[in-house]
Amino acid sequence: MKKKLAVLISGSGTNLQSIIENVNSGFISNAEIAVVMSNNKDAYGLKRALNYKINTEVLEHSNFSSREAFEDELIRILNNYNIDFVVLAGFMRILTKNFISAFKNKIINIHPALLPSFQGEDAQVQAFKYGVKFAGCTVHFVDEGVDTGAIIVQAVVPVLQKDTEETLKKRILNQEHKILPYAIKLLTEDKLFLDGRKVLLLNQETDDMKDIFMINPYSDLS
Ligand code: GAR
Repeated sequence: MKKKLAVLISGSGTNLQSIIENVNSGFISNAEIAVVMSNNKDAYGLKRALNYKINTEVLEHSNFSSREAFEDELIRILNNYNIDFVVLAGFMRILTKNFISAFKNKIINIHPALLPSFQGEDAQVQAFKYGVKFAGCTVHFVDEGVDTGAIIVQAVVPVLQKDTEETLKKRILNQEHKILPYAIKLLTEDKLFLDGRKVLLLNQETDDMKDIFMINPYSDLS
């Protein structure tokens, strides 16, 4: 049985688009998107889902008196779809223990920074302003903290001297579109194991990677 995904979005949904394309191409072969849910009725990602005839739900938090009431309704909706995993793909709402305990170790999030650096909002801008030489993105399990859960996959990109916030965001986003489907593939094929904070990958080959490094500004130091 294919695993059922709920993808939660708040905006443009380019990560959602990438998930859809990777399901359709068969790269993600053991999962289907059962529902796309947005807390913002104007999210462009909802249109993307409709283009592929994927079920959508809108749940606006402003209609609820508390975070818990919003989440109780969200849990009810997701249970109606028999969801196995929840993917936060640009979902700009902090989830409380209430929701997280209902889907323990079954929620993943894409964050546009190399965690644990630059948690919270506008992570790419935080990294750009800090002056780091490498930036990147992280897919992690969601726990009760903000961007603190166990790390599944990360991708690293260089920050170039000529970069603007926009060019850096774009470079990071291109990698988000690769690592989020990859993490979903591993998760839904039951290849991931939690060992405390560490996420282990079944049958991982590490030999090919052991001498890989990058230096920025570029140098061929060896
Ligand atoms: C992505 O860059 C994602 O990493 C970020 O929002 C953007 C959504 O883009 N998420 C966060 O900052 C969560 N803290 P998208 O709607 O085009 O996928």
